[in-house]
Amino acid sequence: MNFFAYFLLLIILIVFGLNIWLISLFFVWLFRKDKAAPYVWSFRKELLLMKENLHLEKGKKLVDLGCGDGKALRFFVKTFGIQWFWYDINIFAITLGKAFNRWFGFRKSVFLEKKNFMNVDLSTFDYIYVYLLPAQLAFIEDWVWNNMKKDAIIIANSFQFKNHVPFEVTKDKKGKWCIFLYKK
Ligand SMILES: C[S@@+](CC[C@H](N)C(=O)[O-])C[C@H]1O[C@@H](n2cnc3c(N)ncnc32)[C@H](O)[C@@H]1O
Repeated sequence: MNFFAYFLLLIILIVFGLNIWLISLFFVWLFRKDKAAPYVWSFRKELLLMKENLHLEKGKKLVDLGCGDGKALRFFVKTFGIQWFWYDINIFAITLGKAFNRWFGFRKSVFLEKKNFMNVDLSTFDYIYVYLLPAQLAFIEDWVWNNMKKDAIIIANSFQFKNHVPFEVTKDKKGKWCIFLYKK
């Protein structure tokens, strides 16, 4: 075999290996008991809706429960000037987030930690942002309501909590319910 054939074989093996790896990860996630949300960042459409409709107070503290690479947090800092705190259990998302922060010049205003957010003291935050799947929202619902500050506001992107009714809902142009605000 010449060099080109070896190179082609290597590429095929890498692509094949990557696919197997991704499929395995998917199945590991699918059969996980807690159904924790996978690492997917907030989409531009919802971020724009929040920019137009939310009025967050500058300097207040916001925590993103499961921050991923911090896309939503960078948006909140830039748009509303809040202080941000973020936790995620996915080391890949955190490493990428640190690189993005450096790239976008957010290094100094960042508090980033690999941690299960259920070990965080929620009572110190004015805003709690969640972009998690309904099963996980149901799983953390009591914990959030029992531990949040009295006047904190929860901002839920795309998915609702099971047992609480939002005091405000933002719809998109097609009338779909997108952003849900909750209080105690
Ligand atoms: C859908 S992503 C949301 C990312 C980010 N909040 C955003 O809006 O761009 C959900 C993230 O939550 C993280 N996550 C799920 N359960 C968690 C837990 N118990 N503690 C910390 N992070 C968690 C996942 O690793 C994933 O990165």
